[in-house]
Amino acid sequence: MADGNSETKSSNQMWGGRFASGPDAIMEEINASIGFDKKLYAQDIRGSIAHATMLAHQGIISAGDKDKIVHGLSTILSEIESGQFEFSRRLEDIHMNIEARLATLIGPSAGRLHTARSRNDQVALDFRLWVKEELQRTEKALTGLIAAFLDRAEEHADTVMPGFTHLQTAQPVTFGHHCMAYVEMFGRDRSRVRHAIEHMDESPIGAAALAGTGFPIDRHMTAKALGFAGPTRNSIDTVSDRDFALEFLSMASITATHLSRLAEEIVIWSTPQFGFIRLSDAFSTGSSIMPQKKNPDAAELVRAKTGRINGSLIALLTVMKGLPLAYSKDMQEDKEQVFDAAESLELAIAAMTGMVRDMTIRADRMKAAAGSGYSTATDLADWLVREAGLPFRDAHHVTGRAVALAEQKGCDLADLSLADLQSIHADITDKVFDVLTVEASVASRTSFGGTAPNEVRKQIAWWRARN
Ligand code: ARG
Repeated sequence: MADGNSETKSSNQMWGGRFASGPDAIMEEINASIGFDKKLYAQDIRGSIAHATMLAHQGIISAGDKDKIVHGLSTILSEIESGQFEFSRRLEDIHMNIEARLATLIGPSAGRLHTARSRNDQVALDFRLWVKEELQRTEKALTGLIAAFLDRAEEHADTVMPGFTHLQTAQPVTFGHHCMAYVEMFGRDRSRVRHAIEHMDESPIGAAALAGTGFPIDRHMTAKALGFAGPTRNSIDTVSDRDFALEFLSMASITATHLSRLAEEIVIWSTPQFGFIRLSDAFSTGSSIMPQKKNPDAAELVRAKTGRINGSLIALLTVMKGLPLAYSKDMQEDKEQVFDAAESLELAIAAMTGMVRDMTIRADRMKAAAGSGYSTATDLADWLVREAGLPFRDAHHVTGRAVALAEQKGCDLADLSLADLQSIHADITDKVFDVLTVEASVASRTSFGGTAPNEVRKQIAWWRARN
């Protein structure tokens, strides 16, 4: 693809005399955005077609000029999509690359397209359209990830595992319940995506440079043609605003943070020490020197992408924080952050969805771990409150002594004899053994949102109806 070096300077100075001698190489380098904003070609062409159609409808340009413009833009679209289009860095950005090609294709009518608009509202439109489409892709991807978790949760509603706090064994839970925690997290992410789409669903085109225009344009018409709920209401804000990009990046950062926590759990669970899961070969690699190893590379890379995505959010917040209204060229730096974060997020969600669907759950290992570490101690304390009428604080103390005794004997709570337990508190009966197993513990937690398998099944059904 030509970079435009062979073109003559004068033919490409679309803004005329001020830079008549041509920008020098450094200026061209720092100024040009075509290297990355060519990604916006489809949105730019769609926006221009809507704008030209509206101009003709309002009698601002002739129907003949409009037809030529629309035809020329369609030709350019196929040239770009078939790889024939020659992007030129001299022409700075996607907007001027397309407009210059249009002039070559259709002659002076091309010059009428830019009536009643500026690159400021044009880029705000193109980028908004792109981000909106990306948000729609993200919504779908999250729905796929949630579906993967719902399937695993259903399959493992009864699979007992240790629940952790401080990464120390706390109380038994089910793997299904743990999966459903991620469904909640990714469900919130998806509603953030939906809110972001709603927030940005206004069309910028027609704000012009910043002040609006004296031409009798119809911004409602272009908004409708481009699939927006309506036009933006303040032309100054319209060309200054990059909230839609910031909302995309904040949503992406929070989602990536969730993905990273999941990645970390996958890394931990797949160690031989934990052994809760086995990753499929598709999402792990072997070691070049240690034949026994299977490394969770995909999970590690998902964890690392979070750093990148968070970086993009901070970068754009920093670009925007000191800008006076309205447009400043600083804002050209918005796109690479969003494009990079979008690519990373899409890949991370896809990799996670694959890992969740593929991983083997080692229920035996989970169950063995669930019973260790005195994970049913709270059940003993609760039993003392319920059956022996103790205040919870006293029950906590009695249970602490039972744990100390088990520790001393090197056994689990359920392995203590009735006599052992009665030596700590006389009111304990053999009924206590009903709650000391992990299955009983889990089945007893029937509070709304609790870990009891039937409760988890209710939550799965609630989500199935919404996914
Ligand atoms: N390439 C520019 C950007 O991405 C387009 C807008 C240029 N507007 C201007 N007044 N120079 O922001």
